Amino acid sequence: MQLTKRFFLMNVLAVLVSITLTVLAVIIFVAAYTKVFGSQADAHDLRRIFEVRSGLGEITRSAQTMEFDQLLDHRYQQELSDRVRTLGSHAVILKNREVMYSTRKLNLIDVEKSLMLSNQGSNLDTIELDGRTFMFTRADYYLSGGDKGVLLLLAPIQLKTDFYFYLGIFTVSFFILSFLAMNFWVSYRFSRGIIAPVSRLKDAAVKISEGDLSCGIAEEGDGEVKELCRTLELMRIKLKESVYLQQKYDDNRKFLISSISHDLKTPVTSIRGYIEGILDGVAQTPEKRKQYLETARNKAMLVNVMIDDLLLYSKLDLNQIPFHFERTDVLQYFEDCVEDYRYEYDQANIKLTLINEMNESVLILVDRERLRRVIQNILDNAKKYMENEDGQVDIILRETRTSAIIEIRDNGKGISEDDLPHIFDRFYRVDPSRKSADGSGLGLAIAKQIIEGHEGKIWVTSTVGEGTRMMISLKKV
Ligand SMILES: Nc1ncnc2c1ncn2[C@@H]1O[C@H](COP(=O)(O)OP(=O)(O)OP(=O)(O)O)[C@@H](O)[C@H]1O
Ligand SMILES: [Mg+2]
Repeated sequence: MQLTKRFFLMNVLAVLVSITLTVLAVIIFVAAYTKVFGSQADAHDLRRIFEVRSGLGEITRSAQTMEFDQLLDHRYQQELSDRVRTLGSHAVILKNREVMYSTRKLNLIDVEKSLMLSNQGSNLDTIELDGRTFMFTRADYYLSGGDKGVLLLLAPIQLKTDFYFYLGIFTVSFFILSFLAMNFWVSYRFSRGIIAPVSRLKDAAVKISEGDLSCGIAEEGDGEVKELCRTLELMRIKLKESVYLQQKYDDNRKFLISSISHDLKTPVTSIRGYIEGILDGVAQTPEKRKQYLETARNKAMLVNVMIDDLLLYSKLDLNQIPFHFERTDVLQYFEDCVEDYRYEYDQANIKLTLINEMNESVLILVDRERLRRVIQNILDNAKKYMENEDGQVDIILRETRTSAIIEIRDNGKGISEDDLPHIFDRFYRVDPSRKSADGSGLGLAIAKQIIEGHEGKIWVTSTVGEGTRMMISLKKV
């Protein structure tokens, strides 16, 4: 969710939750209050109000059966005074706004006000006098000569103003407190979701700017902050990759320079020796000179092959050579290979056999030319390191559920256990004495890179004196 939207929603939520909590708290407060004082107090109050009201009603009803003059009788007034006192009330007898009798002191304004408010026209139950609330009953008398008499009974009502006052204070303070708490929560959430991740991001950015690309940036925080973390992490990975690639370029360049100077020095020195031999007249006869020149040419060709291998290896290492993958039938491909090598092997007196153990035709996705480079090196090695009168090389084609497995097995001299783990290393050759005589030691390193470029695997098993088994597995299409 977007941060602004989230911010807005969280604030609305804070207000709504505060209001809900306050309402709940008020309900609990009122319930608790009623439980402690309320129910009894209310019942008592209600009963009392009911008693007073019915008492006043009774007095008024009996008064209405009487003449107004009887109200002015002293004994009646005494009786009336006693009755209203027991009800905690007051009685007022008025004639034309003039107070004839009253159990409570009333000024002129109170008289006017009570007459006006208690009038039948007004729908009031209570009247306010001197800041106190009274319930009332009233009896009207229409006297001869247009005079008007009134009996007014007033009973004060005790309102629980304290309770409302406390309830108000409680409501306001609870709302303020809960709103503050909610705000605190919103701020905490935001600081956890934004400020903390942003400060960690800042630390990570400082590290990156200092060249430390090893620390990953965790995806954390809310909305855009999380996206920012992800983008920065991608940037870090890309940067790291490019730094790594740059490093690899540099290493490769150094490696090429050192290997060229080291491995090419021997053949170049010997070429120089043969040419100087001719120039110095060491080779006197034309046959000798021809022999010297041919040797020098062979050495030059070897140098050429080595440089080609070096360049190919270096390009493969830097993933600079694109592969052109084609769907290829395994059996057909190796039949062609065997045909190409038949003559060379016949010349070397080695038997080359293709054994197909696959049930049906299997297709693989390969760069035919590059794979040929791999097979060529393995077959060359098998021939080169044969040292067996009855040389025999078998190419066996097998399949698993997902891959095609190619085994090239020879009965040559084999490779010792110590050398076996290294033969795929660049420039590694088991017999250094033959160094630079034929081959650079790059053949299997190149083969490994090419097979890995096909997402395949190449491995070897070998026993000294028995022979070597080179295995290649390539994914089926
Ligand atoms: N079939 C094999 N039998 C015995 N030894 C082998 C065999 N294949 C490879 N080796 C050993 O592994 C080493 C590395 O082989 P690799 O093909 O990489 O180099 P190379 O053949 O010496 O040189 P290049 O292939 O560059 O001409 C070889 O020098 C050899 O000692
Ligand atoms: Mg080789």
